[in-house]
Amino acid sequence: MKYGYFDDQTREYVITNPRTPVKWINYVGTLGFGGFVDHTGGLLLCKGDPALNRITKYIPQLPGSQFKGQTLYLRKRSSAGTQIFSPLFVPTLDAYERFECRVGLGYTQFDTEFYGIRSQISIFVPKGDAVLVQEISITNLGSEAVEIDAVPLLEYTHFDALKQFMNADWVPQTMMSEAHEDGAGRKILAQFAFMNRDQRQTYFTANVAASSFETDRRVFLGDNEYGTFQRPKSLESAELSNTLALRGDNVGALMLPLGSLAPGETKRFVTLLTQQEGSRTESLARARALFEKYGRHETVASARTAMGKDWDAYLGRVQVNTPDASMNSMLNVHNPRQCYMTKNWSRDLSLYQLGFGGRGMGFRDSSQDVMGVMSNMPEEARELIEKLLSVMKSNGSAMHQFYASTMVANEGDSREYEDRPNFYGDDHLWIVFAVCAYLKETGNLRFLDQVLPYYEKDKHGAPREQGTVLNHLQRAVDFTKSNVGRHGLPLLGFADWNDTVNLKTGAESLFVANQYGKALLDLIELFEFRGDHAQANRYRADYEHMRGLVNEYAWDGEWYVRYFDHDGSPIGSKKNAQGQIWTNGQSWPVISGFAPRERAQRALDSVNRLLNTPNGIKLSAPGYDGFDPEKGGVTTYPPGAKENGGIFLHANPWVMIAETLVGNGDRAFEYYNQINPAAKNDVIDTYECEPYVYAQNILGNEHPQFGLARNSWLSGTASWVYQVATKYILGIMPGYAGLEIDPCIPKAWDGFSVRRRFRGAEYLIEVTNPEHVSKGVQKLVVDGAPVAGNVIPAFDDGKTHSVQVTLGALADTGEQAAQ
Ligand code: GLC
Repeated sequence: MKYGYFDDQTREYVITNPRTPVKWINYVGTLGFGGFVDHTGGLLLCKGDPALNRITKYIPQLPGSQFKGQTLYLRKRSSAGTQIFSPLFVPTLDAYERFECRVGLGYTQFDTEFYGIRSQISIFVPKGDAVLVQEISITNLGSEAVEIDAVPLLEYTHFDALKQFMNADWVPQTMMSEAHEDGAGRKILAQFAFMNRDQRQTYFTANVAASSFETDRRVFLGDNEYGTFQRPKSLESAELSNTLALRGDNVGALMLPLGSLAPGETKRFVTLLTQQEGSRTESLARARALFEKYGRHETVASARTAMGKDWDAYLGRVQVNTPDASMNSMLNVHNPRQCYMTKNWSRDLSLYQLGFGGRGMGFRDSSQDVMGVMSNMPEEARELIEKLLSVMKSNGSAMHQFYASTMVANEGDSREYEDRPNFYGDDHLWIVFAVCAYLKETGNLRFLDQVLPYYEKDKHGAPREQGTVLNHLQRAVDFTKSNVGRHGLPLLGFADWNDTVNLKTGAESLFVANQYGKALLDLIELFEFRGDHAQANRYRADYEHMRGLVNEYAWDGEWYVRYFDHDGSPIGSKKNAQGQIWTNGQSWPVISGFAPRERAQRALDSVNRLLNTPNGIKLSAPGYDGFDPEKGGVTTYPPGAKENGGIFLHANPWVMIAETLVGNGDRAFEYYNQINPAAKNDVIDTYECEPYVYAQNILGNEHPQFGLARNSWLSGTASWVYQVATKYILGIMPGYAGLEIDPCIPKAWDGFSVRRRFRGAEYLIEVTNPEHVSKGVQKLVVDGAPVAGNVIPAFDDGKTHSVQVTLGALADTGEQAAQ
């Protein structure tokens, strides 16, 4: 293992070599108070909003060796002299005897050895309190006594994250620091921008005595900042200068003399960072109360245990045991953890999405993210669904993005083009899938009757119109039905899921046509379940109508066309020199059930032949080679990158779903496996990103750096891969009447097992595959009794039920493809 390994027992990924190709990060806390920690201790922290209330200065574009946001220095004195180093490797870059960074669930923990000193540092944000806790133990592994000083250091940013980089006079004129004594020699450093002096301050402390402090970066580094973070001049003196910065670049550093450590002796301390509202007196009092609480090691330990229990509850709802170890690591820990983070952070803040305020929550993004946490936290998912429904417009379309703290929404990039539509063809349809997924997971059909607003407001800011949840869903499909182009196919609007293809007004989208088909299928199923056959039939007619149009106009011979341009010409056809075939153009007609079996098979074979690579399926081919303002953003990338023929991972699980729908378990799993980051160890120097989360994109084979991944963590890939793996490959699919079991696995598997909680009961599902098929439930036994069909009833009795599933060849029913 080149940079680390999975520790499935502790549910951690352990990085053992800090020189990873790019920084690998982990999230701590929530958007309410939190951010990310990188694997060398760098910290980006914010409260409530990464654009408008950022706390530490983390500049991702700096090289990996550079200080970012925070670090810890140790100063060791022994008979051999003095050594100053960081146990986090960065920024001093000393040779280490051991390096271990454990990427855990809600925490990151370091365990390193430098110069015979072992440092254990655990970083997390306890649930319910806005405080970053770092618990630090220093052990002398040598054979003589040593003196240790610890110097934790933070660098602050202006709260307005973008202003920090836009004005190098105003910002520094406003930044200021204060220091307070806290009994027993402890110090509390305060920091704020002048305009926030009387309403909001950040506080930093340690639970042990500090002999001095520093708040001015210039003084800390020394020599007019020709001193460096690698070798700060101030650490050459016995004490820090106690300077109170009243302008300039503010830092917070505490000199913590730990005293003498005998061989084998350990000393422990805690550092705490919080931000509080109110006057300085009020907020300091609140900070002191928090510091008092988390200054006790017992509180820190119990907060860590409580956090672990929350993760147990979240992950415990679905646990799998398959013949594939990487799949198990991902499905039991890392993939649902990523889903949790995407639901929480949307596309706001990561190492790649820098949280400067452009985006907020994306309507389509969050509608898909909620499906990734549906099995594990359905009620939290519903809360976000309610927000999404409330930013739908009364015509059934949706506002493209919104800020969760204010619920102010906007039309996204479409605002920049006056001659283009300001709706996105796809946004509103995603919410149909999300709501139906919630209904099936929980059985709470009353949710459909809940009344929620539409987005338009009157002059008092009150919603002009409201409607039930069901009414929102019906308006969503009606919007698509009534906004069609010259072939009768749905209008693209400003864009569909592929944000970067922005065609002239009048263009039609086959993606939306199929998404509409799938939304109609979901509504038909819902109305049938409610016994409303008339409604179901009405939607069935709409479904058949669209199915007819798609097959009449969009079949290109070997695959389906992806768009019709404003003048009716196809994009994604063999007639095009570039952008001939598009992945989403093939997976979605199978998902919608529009593609007849023969076309479904052929379209998927075309994907396999023309778009698949060992690193994943490309979004399209060949890539556009040169900027074309008519096509927009997609042509800003070189061929092979991102949406221009790159491996856009989000679209891969849709092909896997399609393959399971046609019964091709071997191919579905091959596609699953080839993008599984946990299986990337051998190519990690090419791939570069974290092996424990999905990235958004990998460079395709038209690009010289084929295989390079970027934009890890905040991607819809997390939600869809989790869904495809659990619901389509392992085939445990929540339905209205119960859990539907319909696996589609590699033929070579002997079977697998899943433990799943569902509507107040637990199911231990054992699947065996004696005939080595991919699909087909031959026998279902629940609690020892055979059950006809493949649905396990929703018992809702608080008990554990055993389920035996036997797969085997079924008599061919000669059915059409897909649904
Ligand atoms: C990004 C966007 C998402 C879009 C995708 C494809 O992931 O967040 O909304 O669908 O790119 O363009």
